[in-house]
Amino acid sequence: MCGIVGYVGNRPALSIVLDGLRRLEYRGYDSAGVAIVGDDALLTEKKAGKLANLEKALTEGPDTGIAAGTTGIGHTRWATHGGPTDRNAHPHVSQDGRVAVIHNGIIENFARLRAELEALGIEFRSDTDTEVAAHLLALELDVVRTEGGQGAQALAEALRRVSRRLEGAFTLLAVDTAIPGAVAGARRNSPLVVGRGVGENYLASDVSAFIEHTREAVELGQDQVVLITPEGIEITGFDGTPVEGRPFHIDWDASAAEKGGYDYFMLKEIAEQPQAVADTLLGRLTETGEIVLDEVRLTEQDLRDVDKIFIVACGTAYHSGLVAKYAIEHWTRIPCEVETASEFRYRDPVLDRSTLVIAISQSGETMDTLMALRHAKEQKARVLAICNTNGSTIPRESDAVLYTHGGPEVAVASTKAFLTQLVACYLIGLHLAQVRGIKYADEVGAVVGQLQEMPDKLRTVLESMEPVRKLARDLASAQQVLFIGRHVGYPVALEGALKLKELAYMHAEGFAAGELKHGPIALIDQGTPVVCIVPSPAGRGVLHDKIVSNIQEVRARGARTIVIAEEGDEAVVPYADELIRVPRTPTLLAPLVTTIPLQVLSCEIASSRGHDVDQPRNLAKSVTVE
Ligand code: G6P
Repeated sequence: MCGIVGYVGNRPALSIVLDGLRRLEYRGYDSAGVAIVGDDALLTEKKAGKLANLEKALTEGPDTGIAAGTTGIGHTRWATHGGPTDRNAHPHVSQDGRVAVIHNGIIENFARLRAELEALGIEFRSDTDTEVAAHLLALELDVVRTEGGQGAQALAEALRRVSRRLEGAFTLLAVDTAIPGAVAGARRNSPLVVGRGVGENYLASDVSAFIEHTREAVELGQDQVVLITPEGIEITGFDGTPVEGRPFHIDWDASAAEKGGYDYFMLKEIAEQPQAVADTLLGRLTETGEIVLDEVRLTEQDLRDVDKIFIVACGTAYHSGLVAKYAIEHWTRIPCEVETASEFRYRDPVLDRSTLVIAISQSGETMDTLMALRHAKEQKARVLAICNTNGSTIPRESDAVLYTHGGPEVAVASTKAFLTQLVACYLIGLHLAQVRGIKYADEVGAVVGQLQEMPDKLRTVLESMEPVRKLARDLASAQQVLFIGRHVGYPVALEGALKLKELAYMHAEGFAAGELKHGPIALIDQGTPVVCIVPSPAGRGVLHDKIVSNIQEVRARGARTIVIAEEGDEAVVPYADELIRVPRTPTLLAPLVTTIPLQVLSCEIASSRGHDVDQPRNLAKSVTVE
């Protein structure tokens, strides 16, 4: 939700900022803009639409010397206040043209501030909330300078004063023409990390923007201002108190954030899933079958005291939580509820010290999830984050964190993050079961071995996707696609439908297969594609038999059945118009294998329909507003 980059150093800032924006474009692509501090001049360019429009304008426009400056900021936008137009694109510049500001978040008191500034004679040139910050900063800089403030310190002090006046969520970056070699940043409720280079430093919404230049980063806390110059990084609270940022090393490979020969990031990320799952398991299972979760800073006693679990998450992460509920309740016998994070705090859930809240988030920045987490902490619940992004807000504010080692996920539609979240949930469920003493000790022991087999099984699934791609081209003109499943197949059905909505802009719904007859079956018409996720006939055989009946019900109403079933399941063959085989997998782990064909299906349908698979319309990968 808006990507932000800042650079100071000795190299031309423009190309570094544009490269950073390219890596952050998944956060929003309604418009893009840059501001570079040149020779006593502020050079800005901004354009509605994707980054390519900005790059075109920079190439085709007159040579302003913009490429030469060594201090710069850049922004890629997901619009909140004001439509996605050139004039609403960031940076926003103060009336005197000296100060440029970019922003991620929402300034909630902007209307009052705008009225105040207009009363001073300032004319606004956009409909954004951000512009107030640019004008306020220019005014505060004047005051600070009158009081004797100078150079980069004056910029930081002025930004602290502005930040104290703003309400809501904001990351702000600011530059001033009179202060080349300095970028100031402020952070409240929106992400900002510092990249430490040699003779140069970076600021960005997330580390992917600067990993090709440095792997050394510094985490910023809530309500802090950071000043970067080529020589140093200074962090203070909004009140000016010096603060030590937490340094951390980024172990992501820079090439992981490149397409690496694939047409889309999504295709590459689908292909990376066996490795992502293996990396998430790495070092967490001992030879004797024990689960080691070293980042979980809760004592075994804390875990034994848990009498209720809530899982809060959004979008795809929410679907991983729905799967987790089945596994966690079955293995631990602790009641577990799953809620969309945006609803959680508003219904006043019953929480106390013995409640464990698990917040699942790939980005670690989703505002709805963050707010749910904060609410849980206020009610004294313990919070455990499952997160893919080191240095992000959700793990920092949690009592414990289990990182998924999926590497950077760039495509807006989540794929490898989902599978690694499932693995993390399984690990937590198994760990809780082991710590607390368990009913199904043998089963839990066996699952540890089965998890270790998963990377190979996922490779097998990926190798057999050609028929799915062919089917996708065939389905590209369908009006709607329905997905049905039972037990853990139900969240997989929801995830399959979400992927198709996100990417192909098609009507798609996921249903609990048994619920279909209570209404949704009316949607089925001659030829309606219905994707049926079939559980293993082994183990919970009753589930399998029930869904085979459900498949027959939809087929009797004219549906075209696309059946995902494991190798050797012959009972489904007579009722499957299309049959997609996956390797034999125990029921609770089956979502790892059954999700992949659905990812491939929606990706291929979307590309057949001519859509931008990595950047679907209206969406952003990291949603930092409520
Ligand atoms: C957005 C994305 C989804 C994602 C959800 C949660 O809506 O478009 O793909 O699942 O946010 O994101 P998180 O980073 O919290 O997992």
